Amino acid sequence: MLARRAMAAGSDAGRAPGVLVVVCLLLCFGFISCGSQRVYGIVHENVTFSVASTVPLNEILWKKQKDKVAEWENSELRAFSPFTNRINLDLVSGDLTIFNLTSSDEDKYEMESPNITGTKTFSLYVLEPLPSPRATCALTNGSIEVLCKISEHYNSHPELTVYSWDCPMEQCKHNSTKVYFKLEDDLPQTIQCTASNPLVNKTSSIVLETCVPNSGHSRNRYMFILSLLGAIIITTCTMLYMRGILKCGRQTDRNSSS
Ligand SMILES: *[C@@H]1O[C@H](CO)[C@@H](O)[C@H](O)[C@H]1NC(C)=O
Ligand SMILES: *[C@@H]1O[C@H](CO)[C@@H](O)[C@H](O)[C@H]1NC(C)=O
Ligand SMILES: *[C@@H]1O[C@H](CO)[C@@H](O)[C@H](O)[C@H]1NC(C)=O
Ligand SMILES: *[C@@H]1O[C@H](CO)[C@@H](O)[C@H](O)[C@H]1NC(C)=O
Ligand SMILES: *[C@@H]1O[C@H](CO)[C@@H](O)[C@H](O)[C@H]1NC(C)=O
Repeated sequence: MLARRAMAAGSDAGRAPGVLVVVCLLLCFGFISCGSQRVYGIVHENVTFSVASTVPLNEILWKKQKDKVAEWENSELRAFSPFTNRINLDLVSGDLTIFNLTSSDEDKYEMESPNITGTKTFSLYVLEPLPSPRATCALTNGSIEVLCKISEHYNSHPELTVYSWDCPMEQCKHNSTKVYFKLEDDLPQTIQCTASNPLVNKTSSIVLETCVPNSGHSRNRYMFILSLLGAIIITTCTMLYMRGILKCGRQTDRNSSS
């Protein structure tokens, strides 16, 4: 996909095809190679490289870089260290499954068979189990800053972890570790932050009320009670006035004229 994008960019600019070859070679020497499929796995879990061959395979060889992983030859299946007892080779499809992954399994794998033209290559990324994120907040410059973080001890491919938010507002549509809310905004009660990698996601939520200092909070409640009291007094007064028991209107006239 990278190669295709590079190619499209190259032809758009009308560059010499030599540039493409260089770009492709650079990619091939890097970990992300052209034509290799990215596969993600989690430590202690399993992963399958899917070849899904439709032709019968007489011979199969799976390699991790230059080292043999498994070989099917002369009706005999061999697995090599450190994969002995940790793999399953599907002799029909050619698929290789690795069980109980370790981070040292992360590498480039390839499969060869005389019955298939070319090699099938896979880039395996082994991730540590994703911890739940923690949402914290702080009041800065009259706005609430909410931060989404996973444990600093988690450093397994940080570039593959994406943070997103869930709330009805515009600022939650962006993927970032921080969101800001203005105090005067109509604040949602809770917002959720999600950390995701290509395999899993973990969510946690925070109650925004806990970010606002108590004084402002109780002032709001005080104002609410005051206006409620005011409404009750006005309603009562109006009702009494309409019943003609108390002449509110005339009393205020007299007060203002004196
Ligand atoms: C998985 O591998 C670890 C060592 O990497 C080992 O301690 C554990 O017992 C293995 N688990 C299974 C289910 O084989
Ligand atoms: C697979 O390859 C082997 C060795 O080249 C060959 O003998 C065999 O006939 C092939 N099988 C098929 C189904 O093409
Ligand atoms: C607060 O706002 C001022 C001016 O808008 C800015 O210079 C400052 O960096 C802000 N402080 C924080 C903690 O965001
Ligand atoms: C934000 O992250 C989510 C979850 O990983 C993803 O589905 C979405 O496409 C991302 N959005 C942007 C704009 O990057
Ligand atoms: C998180 O994973 C669940 C399935 O486990 C999926 O339904 C949901 O869309 C994912 N959310 C994000 C933000 O990736």
